[in-house]
Amino acid sequence: QAAPELDLVIFGGTGDLAMRKLLPALIRLQHDGLLPARLRVIGVAREPLDRDAFRALAQQRVAACLGAAFDVAAWDRFAALLDYACVDATDAASYEGLASMLLAAPERERVFYLSTAPRLFATICEQLAQRGLNTERSRVVLEKPLGHDLASSQAINDAVGGFFGEQQIYRIDHYLGKEPVQNLLALRFGNALFEPLWRRESVRDVQITVAEELGVESRGDFYDQVGAMRDMVQNHLLQLLCIVAMEPPASISADAVRDEKLKILRALRPIAGADVGLKTVRGQYRAGAAGGKPVPGYLDEERIPPGSTTETFVALRAEIDTWRWAGVPFFLRTGKRMPQRVAEIVVNFRSVPHSIFGQTADSLNPNRMVIRMQPEEKVELHLLAKQPGDVMHLQPVHLNLDFAETFRSRRLDAYERLLMDVMRGNLTLFVRRDEQEAAWRWVEPIMDAWKASTERPKAYTAGTWGPASSSALLGRDGLAWHEEI
Ligand code: BG6
Repeated sequence: QAAPELDLVIFGGTGDLAMRKLLPALIRLQHDGLLPARLRVIGVAREPLDRDAFRALAQQRVAACLGAAFDVAAWDRFAALLDYACVDATDAASYEGLASMLLAAPERERVFYLSTAPRLFATICEQLAQRGLNTERSRVVLEKPLGHDLASSQAINDAVGGFFGEQQIYRIDHYLGKEPVQNLLALRFGNALFEPLWRRESVRDVQITVAEELGVESRGDFYDQVGAMRDMVQNHLLQLLCIVAMEPPASISADAVRDEKLKILRALRPIAGADVGLKTVRGQYRAGAAGGKPVPGYLDEERIPPGSTTETFVALRAEIDTWRWAGVPFFLRTGKRMPQRVAEIVVNFRSVPHSIFGQTADSLNPNRMVIRMQPEEKVELHLLAKQPGDVMHLQPVHLNLDFAETFRSRRLDAYERLLMDVMRGNLTLFVRRDEQEAAWRWVEPIMDAWKASTERPKAYTAGTWGPASSSALLGRDGLAWHEEI
């Protein structure tokens, strides 16, 4: 399906996200012939630049970010699509230039990508509306963080919703654009094999890990206001949990999928009060090592206030109160400065009820499905097979589906995929307002309890899998994290 002719307007056009993710994604899409005909990409920012100066700045920044992968010929082809409008989001008069640029081609569709501080979202939408730019054929893309808590996210949603209908609002969660996440949908609902097993009778526990080797880097001041719960759990990890746990939607249409995800978010058993200490772990890294080199602790990173209690690690035990999942723990875990960058979902199946091979059922690893999103994209099914030899001894073996090997063609990265969807008007992989607010409703009592507590986050050494209490969280169920087995 060809995408329509359109103007893609990036607010925050000179910012990090534009330069590191959006422009490189657009260059690759153009290379693959996937961009709409006559696409115009308009960078919008406060800097007083003209089109040529913006192109030069973008070239320099994108080249620095892509390194050896930067291709001058590809850049030159792409730069021809680039335009620039100088706008100070809070100064009404400064929108004039952008408005006349857009209104000169009124037949084109418009996508407004708001990659700015969220406090500017309402003003920007209002200014666009005042110039008649929020027509039915326009869409708006909202980057996270979408608020700090339920009330602030509702305020943003109300403000944007005053000028754009829900069907025009694309809330980005880039994890939904990752190929293996979509493959999980394909695996679950394209095959009859797994669905009968995908329930409490067969599943013992589910573990979702998004670990990063990096620390807070240069984002200290931003990160310290946010912490791992808001930065990762409220959005990426809960979205992954929804995709794993949701009932089969009746179709792949946006609302069919989002309705099912919402039911899961609403069925999450609240964690509040005394349960917070039992079912959640928050950690903060101290000095250690990353990539073989010593690295400072969180409190010694740049722009972190002394004594900060912001968490850089969260592990928690969630439960979903539905017939399908009652009693099955869903363990979520994310952290900075872990031993490696890994994003994976592990579904552990129950052991056989009785072992006929002498080895006890417990000594045999149960069947397990590992869906890896990072660093490599693959699905592994762990089974038991007989070891060659004269004794009947079982050992774990893997069935591997490695996407890079199986599909030789280039796979779109998350931003490429999501940009394509925005340009084509497909909302399936974007978060609906009610989902986003349900997620806030669930994490908020946990954050409130942490805030009220006098306890500091548990320390863990940079380069480890988090505080010891993270293992204890599973230990209480007689379980262990996937990598500890
Ligand atoms: C972002 C967070 O949403 O996701 C970052 O703000 C984090 O802190 C990033 O590093 C992780 O994304 P990915 O795709 O690199 O795993």
